[in-house]
Amino acid sequence: MNTTTLTFDETVRSRFSSRAFLPTPLTDDQIRQVLTDAQNSPSNCNTQPWHVHIASGKTKEALTEVMLQNTSKGLITPDFSFDYADFYGDYFDRSQEQARIYYETLGVAREDKAKRNEIYLRNFKFYGAPHVAFLFMPSFGDNIRVASDMGMYGQTFLLSLAARGYAGIPQTLLGFHADAIREILGVSEQYRLLFGISFGYADPSALTHNVRMGRISVDESVTIHS
Ligand SMILES: Cc1cc2nc3c(=O)[nH]c(=O)nc-3n(C[C@H](O)[C@H](O)[C@H](O)COP(=O)(O)O)c2cc1C
Repeated sequence: MNTTTLTFDETVRSRFSSRAFLPTPLTDDQIRQVLTDAQNSPSNCNTQPWHVHIASGKTKEALTEVMLQNTSKGLITPDFSFDYADFYGDYFDRSQEQARIYYETLGVAREDKAKRNEIYLRNFKFYGAPHVAFLFMPSFGDNIRVASDMGMYGQTFLLSLAARGYAGIPQTLLGFHADAIREILGVSEQYRLLFGISFGYADPSALTHNVRMGRISVDESVTIHS
């Protein structure tokens, strides 16, 4: 079993959202190492609100089938809202820029709706990943604090994958099918689906494998007071 991990610097800089995976599965031990890392995430008052379900194999295939069916019928059941129309100003521009980079890398024209839709649907095929983790949470108050704890967990999970030579992608879009996912996985109604993380080994031959989304400078995000 490979237990070697990258340095922190290498880990943070090598992590990226992979949108193409090899079918090769991770072993149960490899997955457990990642889960054990993620379990060390901080949370408000150490509430540890993450309820995580991992799906692989036939369960994952059943999820894909129902998500594609529901999408084709225009049926979505998100627990939390998500609308590109909510972005504005710089936030909107950045979202457009990342979409532009992605579609350009794949050689897809903006007006090619059929191809763009096919690429959108890859979300529900987990981008070919052999595993997916669904991050469910209980509901407290306005849910903002719980969601921030879940984000902490998600990032530790993603960095653990990167440190160990695997790859992942967080996916809000999986949360669009919360009811169907709860039903297939037997998850109680009391848990809400914030997002999923598809994971496995990145496919190095994918067109998008070496694409990295840029970041604004530290000085644009941070104000230092002294
Ligand atoms: C909470 C969260 C949800 C996301 N949801 C999706 C998604 O549904 N589908 C997708 O293709 N990418 C999704 N992404 C990936 C972002 O597009 C990606 O993180 C961003 O463009 C920066 O690129 P990088 O992760 O490669 O650095 C999500 C990222 C986060 C943090």
